Parts: sequence; C-alpha cells; structure tokens
Amino acid sequence: MEQLRINPAKDTTADIDVTDIPELPDDVFIAPLEKPKDLGDDWLEPQQRVYTAEEHHIWDDLFAQQMEILPGRACSAFMAGLERLDLGRGGVPDFGAMSEELKSITGWEVVPVPMLIPDHVFFWHLANRRFPAGNFIRTRETFHYIQEPDVFHDVFGHVPLLTDPVFADYMAAYGRAGWKALKHNRLKALSALYWYTVEFGLILEEDGMRSYGAGILSGPTEAVFAVEAESPNRIHLDVDRVVRTDYTISDLQPTYFVIESFAELFHMTVERDFNDLYGRLGAGFTYANQAVLDVDRVYHIGTQEYAQRGGRGSGAQPV
Ligand code: PHE
Ligand code: CO
Repeated sequence: MEQLRINPAKDTTADIDVTDIPELPDDVFIAPLEKPKDLGDDWLEPQQRVYTAEEHHIWDDLFAQQMEILPGRACSAFMAGLERLDLGRGGVPDFGAMSEELKSITGWEVVPVPMLIPDHVFFWHLANRRFPAGNFIRTRETFHYIQEPDVFHDVFGHVPLLTDPVFADYMAAYGRAGWKALKHNRLKALSALYWYTVEFGLILEEDGMRSYGAGILSGPTEAVFAVEAESPNRIHLDVDRVVRTDYTISDLQPTYFVIESFAELFHMTVERDFNDLYGRLGAGFTYANQAVLDVDRVYHIGTQEYAQRGGRGSGAQPV
C-alpha cells in the first residue's frame, strides 16, 4: 500500500477565518430550525444533561452490545480511541472530563447541543475543533434504531476517531470547507462527502475491510452488514464521484466507499481546491446510490438483495 503523508501546507482551507459564526448570503438556503429560546447563537447547552440511572444503563447496554461486534470490524484507530478515552468506564461519559483528555491529544472538545443544529453553526464548531454532541439518549423503545443522532451515536460513534491526528485535522478542515460550500450553494455535494466518509466510511486495513464511519459503528446491524454482507457495493472513494451520489438516511447503505488510509482521504479532500469541482456540478445528484459505474474501482459488486427485497420494514434480512 502506498504511504501517503499529509501536507498541512497544502490545506486549501487554511486561510478561512473561523473566529465568528459565518454570515449567510441571502441566496443560500438552509433548513429552518427553530432555536430553543434559552440558547445563544452558538446553540450550545449551558451544561450537559443530568442523566437518570436508567439512562446511564442504556448507555452501558449499548456499549456492551457494540463491544461484542466491533472487534475485527471497526478500524484500529477507532478501537484505540475508545480505549484511550476509556468510554466504557460506565454510564454516559462526562463531556468535561472527556474533553480535557481529548484536548491534550488532538485539541478537540465535545460540547452539548439540544438537537440537530443549523449547518453553518455546525461547521463553525467543527472548524474550531468543537464536536457538537446531542445531549439526550435513546429509550428502550428506540434502542435498536433512531434516526436523530443521540449521545450514543455522537459520542461513541464519532469521538474515538477524534483522537487520530489526521482524522482530527480532516474534521476541522471539513468545518472550514462547509463554510465555503455554503457560499457556493454546494452544501448538498459536500454533505454527500460527509455522509460517505465520516458517517459511513470503510477503510482498508492490512487484515481486511474495516469501518470508520460513526453511523456504522454506533449500531449493531450495520456494523456487520457494512463489512460482511453480500448486498452492498464497496467502491474506492473518488471525490468527484461521491459528491454526485445520492444517499438515504433511513436505511442501511446500498453502497460504501473505501479509503486506504486517513492520509489518503486528507490528500484527496483537504489538499484539493474544490472551486472548480463546485463549478462543474449539476443541480441535483447524478448517480443513484445503488449504481456501480464503469469508472469505479470496485472491491465488491453488491447483490443489492437487501434493498431490492424492500429494505427496512420489509422483513428482508440484512445479513
Ligand atoms: N479542499 C476543499 C475546498 O477547497 C475542502 C475540503 C476540506 C473538503 C476538507 C472536505 C474536507 O473546498
Ligand atoms: Co453522526
């Protein structure tokens, strides 16, 4: 495997000023979210929620369930991060203590937010190395599947990789890039990249394909499906291709994109100026999320059996 080194001098977003929350140009559309009255423009909760004993229990049970499944399926940087931050010490982790530790490793911290926050505010936090994490935790009724990110998805799924120096830099650069995409009205394209890397990315390790995406690693079914099922495609990540690819947020992915290393990801994204890419994009997505194209470097052509049987709710078996 080729050894890539990241080159911070080539960071195309380095000169973007991230001090203040960006002003949105009038012609830029973002989802209208209503800010709870007691929160400021940064959308941050004054403090992390105080969890009940049962809520701490739910965390412990979710944690135990993932630990049965993730060894050999999650990438090594994720497993190392979990251990380093000691996220299994019992109960929902305290954001303050976790942030202290994380800050000393890569300069990142974790801050509590009530719900999904507007894109430009989310980007601003990332650019400043603050990861906004949902405060609430799912209930027993929604134990196996929730669509909105809760504290288990956000902390268990996302935070461990923020201990990896290259991935940590990628996330901060993504925040700055988000800002730039907003100005070009190209948020949808950049969001597809987030989706297929940060949320649902796979990485090729020496002993096989592993997951690094938080959306995969925070649930039991997709953690197995993503790396082992016959159904989904596994294709090498190509930025021009991915930003044109549609995605579903409510079911297992029909296609995963694979990187060889975080340095490779950094090289393909942070070190590349997206201006001309944005200029050449069409209005909507060009490729369906089940498609395999003749230009794709394919690791596995999926049967798509799961999706074609009707996916979630149809009784189709993922694996
Ligand atoms: N380099 C890209 C640009 O010029 C942005 C980018 C950075 C994209 C990091 C993804 C991640 O806009
Ligand atoms: Co997420």
